[in-house]
Amino acid sequence: MTMSSKKLTLKALQNKKGVEKITAITAYDALFAGIFDGEVDVILIGDSLNMSFGGCSDTTSLKLEHIIYHAQAVCRKAKSSFLIADMPFGSYTTRDSALRNATKLIKATQVDALKLEVTRTKLHIIEALIDEGIAIMPHIGLMPQYIKAEGGYKIKGRDETQSKELLESALAFEQAGAFGLLLEGIIAPCATTITQSVQIPTIGIGSGAACDGQILVWSDMLGLCSDISPKFVRRYLQGAELIKQAVREYASDVRKGSFPSEQESY
Ligand code: KIV
Repeated sequence: MTMSSKKLTLKALQNKKGVEKITAITAYDALFAGIFDGEVDVILIGDSLNMSFGGCSDTTSLKLEHIIYHAQAVCRKAKSSFLIADMPFGSYTTRDSALRNATKLIKATQVDALKLEVTRTKLHIIEALIDEGIAIMPHIGLMPQYIKAEGGYKIKGRDETQSKELLESALAFEQAGAFGLLLEGIIAPCATTITQSVQIPTIGIGSGAACDGQILVWSDMLGLCSDISPKFVRRYLQGAELIKQAVREYASDVRKGSFPSEQESY
């Protein structure tokens, strides 16, 4: 079943909590945004674009200009889904830089909201952005932008101290006015407790089935990245194989001289 072509509002997105699951996917360009638009509730212009699109080993080198360029492309084609853009690593280290860069990102694009990877130490920044009228989704748990400090991608909530801290962060961000939370790489029981303790929707990735919604990186779920396959990814297409096959057929037709045909020529 596909969704209506009407623009999904923030309120309508929030009202899905406890009623129906929220569906979300990433997109970085107009082509795929146009295909995904209206099929899912949320499209995220995620900083994962630095890896799958930019070929970098992590997300930390992404610049504000990059996310603006990609968000503009997505916004040109996606008119129904709710659009969220990531604030890149280093663009919200202080309250002032966060306000300056978030304002720049909002002004340059048509995104509906911003997502930031944060612990409670950044609560004042979240408060300042919301106070400025920006819809904010804090991203908690496994935060890929912290890879260098944490020495890798670490699943969160495994011990009591960590799960208590995550729950307290979630409650503090809700209290600050966040419209929703992204829960990444959090063990399922902990993500369940968070989801049940807040009134705002949680969107999970690698955080179990109880979250109010799920998100996957488009190139992972379409099987375009053949080298990595994290446990939490379900592949809905063997994309890389299918595309390779099509390109091989094309190259073979060109080599044989069967493309272009007379009908394909002027
Ligand atoms: O950048 C990204 O793709 C993300 C994932 C959690 C979806 O933030």
